[in-house]
This record gives sequence, structure tokens and C-alpha cells, in this order.
Amino acid sequence: MTTPNVRPLAAGNWKMNGSRQFARDLVKGLADQLATTKLAADVLVCPPFPYIETVLSAAGSGLLVGAQDCHAKVSGPHTGDVAAAMLADLGCGYVILGHSERRTDHGESSAIVQAKAAAALAAGLVAIVCVGETEAERDRGETIKIVEKQIVESLPSGATAANLVIAYEPVWAIGTGRTPTNGDVEAVHKAIRGLISQKLADGGLVRILYGGSVKPGNAAELMAIPEVNGALVGGASLKVEDFWAIAAACR
Ligand code: PGA
Repeated sequence: MTTPNVRPLAAGNWKMNGSRQFARDLVKGLADQLATTKLAADVLVCPPFPYIETVLSAAGSGLLVGAQDCHAKVSGPHTGDVAAAMLADLGCGYVILGHSERRTDHGESSAIVQAKAAAALAAGLVAIVCVGETEAERDRGETIKIVEKQIVESLPSGATAANLVIAYEPVWAIGTGRTPTNGDVEAVHKAIRGLISQKLADGGLVRILYGGSVKPGNAAELMAIPEVNGALVGGASLKVEDFWAIAAACR
């Protein structure tokens, strides 16, 4: 449900999927929809690095474009990495940081995520910082404790509602078709709102997204939960119709 004065965000995380032609087609489909229909939400796509430029040239003015990671350093001997300033230079406005797949596959700690988020802010990007508990942590009743710890440790200095988005993504809900109960989502989002309001002067306005198996069929229900200000969408962001339906439900 829209928090007063917070414009929702529908963010598509393509992960390591697609091709140049796929990227063009998907973005053209979204841009065509945006050209004719006004949504209550901002719409963002985050393609793999090699397709960012393709996506930017197909995106038109209405669609926001971001990346899925950046390095903490400005430049230097970091083979295979991409600096936040390079993303800003291309025309990206956003970067996803600390996704659970990066925390797991690349051993990214919250301290690393915090350094990357600081680099993103310094480059003028909006950092989408992802947090979420594993299934074992949930079973132990530690969800809120874990999520709050990740936020405290990942939050860069200088964060504001204009340059920070938080995405709550239970690890066990990502790509599994499973989602928490509405009550559980509400409890976590309210806890995040409380924490971020203590930490930031304008924390009441930070967008808090839910992610993990958001689909056209459950989006309206999830987006109606208090303090849910949009969605971070993986699998369903790879189809124009599905992602558009989710974006339309973000209000
Ligand atoms: P999913 O992924 O929508 O495929 O569950 C969400 C994410 O990982 O951001």
C-alpha cells in the first residue's frame, strides 16, 4: 500500500538472462506500454551489464535503467568488475546491491554491500539494498533480527529517501514460487520502516520493496500490504505482460 508521499517502484532484475535481441524486444514492449498508459509506479529494468547500453537506447524516456551490481572502488586493478561511476556514465540511475545471490555466490558481506552502496551514492546512483532471511533463520524465528542487522550493517552514510531503496527478499522465496504470509510481510516491512525512520531523517519516505516470487497473480495482494512500496521482480520481469501486470499493481 502506498505510504503517503512515496511513489512505488516496480524493479525488474533480469539476473543472468537474455540476449541483445531479447533485451531490445522486452524493453520495446515496456516502452510501448509506458507511452500509452500512466502508472502509479516508476518502472525500472536491471539487465546484465553487456545489455545496458542496448536497453538504454530502446528505453525511451519513461523507463528507468539500472545494473545488478557495482564495485566499491572508483577504478583500478579489479578484473571483471564495474565501477558505479561507469554505470552513471552510461546513463544508469539505479544499482541493485547485496542481492542474496551475490551474498551467497560471491560471499558478499553486509560490510561489502555498505562499501558498494557508498560508491553508488557517490556516483549519483540510487542504491537498491537487498536484505532477507534464509529459511533456517525464519524457522528459528530470527527474521526481523537478521533483516535489521543486514540493514544496519549495509546502510551507507549519506543515504536518504532519494538515493536509497530497500528490498526485502526472503531468500527462500526467491525463484521458488513460495511467498510469506501477508502478515509476515507486513511485520517485516513495518520493522524496516521503524528502523529506517530512526536512522534517516527522511526514513519515512524510503521505498521498501518486497521481492521473492512476485507474479501477476499475487502482486495486487502483496502490494496492498502496508509499507510495501513496490516490487523487486526476477523471473516474472522477463515477460512484458507479466512485468507490466505487476508494475500496474504497484500503487
Ligand atoms: P523472483 O526473484 O521474482 O524470480 O523470485 C526475485 C529476485 O531475486 O529479485
